Amino acid sequence: MELVCVEDFERKASSQLEKNALDYYRSGAGEQFTLGLNREAFKRLRLRPRFLRDVSQLDLGCMIFGQQLKWPLGIAPTAMQKMAHPDGEIGNARAAGKAGSIFILSTLSTTSLEDLSAGAPDTCKWFQLYIYKDRSLTEKLVRRAERANFKALVLTVDAPVFGHRRSDVRNKFSLPQHLSLANFRGEQANGVVTMGGSGINEYVASQFDASITWEDINWLKQLTHLPIIAKGVLTAEDAVLAREFGCAGVIVSNHGARQIDTVPASIEALPEVVKAVGNDLVVMLDGGIMQGNDIFKALALGAKTVFIGRPAVYGLAYNGQRGVEQLLTVLRNDFEITMKLTGCQSLGDIQSGMVVHESFYSKL
Ligand SMILES: Cc1cc2nc3c(=O)[nH]c(=O)nc-3n(C[C@H](O)[C@H](O)[C@H](O)COP(=O)(O)O)c2cc1C
Repeated sequence: MELVCVEDFERKASSQLEKNALDYYRSGAGEQFTLGLNREAFKRLRLRPRFLRDVSQLDLGCMIFGQQLKWPLGIAPTAMQKMAHPDGEIGNARAAGKAGSIFILSTLSTTSLEDLSAGAPDTCKWFQLYIYKDRSLTEKLVRRAERANFKALVLTVDAPVFGHRRSDVRNKFSLPQHLSLANFRGEQANGVVTMGGSGINEYVASQFDASITWEDINWLKQLTHLPIIAKGVLTAEDAVLAREFGCAGVIVSNHGARQIDTVPASIEALPEVVKAVGNDLVVMLDGGIMQGNDIFKALALGAKTVFIGRPAVYGLAYNGQRGVEQLLTVLRNDFEITMKLTGCQSLGDIQSGMVVHESFYSKL
């Protein structure tokens, strides 16, 4: 049967992945309230389409940090992609490159920065950074990212510790023995320890620096000229701090609802961040993007581009690089239909008034 939407890929992947991996990829934190909300909140927004506006030609191109992209959707960092398919991060990144999208490599990848760069030389790549207690290790990661031609650092700000993902604890999640955290070969920071609970949480607690503050961005800035993007911002207050400390952009994100439950959906948090810093910083979003309409809604509310996490992992699990290519084609076609059926020829035509909260109609 042809796969025609992200849910189809999700179903396929769910039937193919073994439980330890599937639970790791799909879980959210706590009761998983926000996990559902990330998708549902998009459905509470209504489109106000315009018609009879020549949409015979579309231009979906956009420029982010000097990089020309074919359309405003990239791939968010997700850890340990070889657990989904042997093509792993390289397959995912190549598919992103073919689609003219950005690929963000996780610190906790099963492919090293260097191998990813060699394997997907033509893809626009950013590196997602966690700050380790061992600052020299962190500094080495930054230097390696620069050397390997990554174009931005994505500092994840919402993970001083990892959230409580119940199934990972129940499963005593650990990385399968034949895989490793490839950025740390030969380093103490390699390996996911399992000691009763979730191995990944044990790892994070022992390695990540939970004492970091916004001030540490100054430390990062003197190490690198790469633009720094704060990922995981959910409030205007933190967005303002990101600006104050010299970040070039923010990704409005709740980490795919994997950190703290009952925070807002990313799309709900977007307007306050755009209002606070949208004129000064590049505001982006991830979380719950499942179809073309969702991309459109995020852009109408002020995001410059959006990212997908799980959907790409599901494409990868289904059929490696080809699966991700197929998934991106499905999403791109869907976004093109949304653009045409709302009367938008280019991203500049997407106006904020074209998306309203459902309450707009109940007031009439
Ligand atoms: C399996 C999995 C692993 C993730 N690993 C990371 C990571 O290593 N670093 C990070 O900053 N975010 C990580 N995230 C969060 C994603 O970057 C992104 O914020 C989230 O997946 C977006 O939501 P979506 O899955 O609904 O698209 C992970 C998410 C998932 C689902």
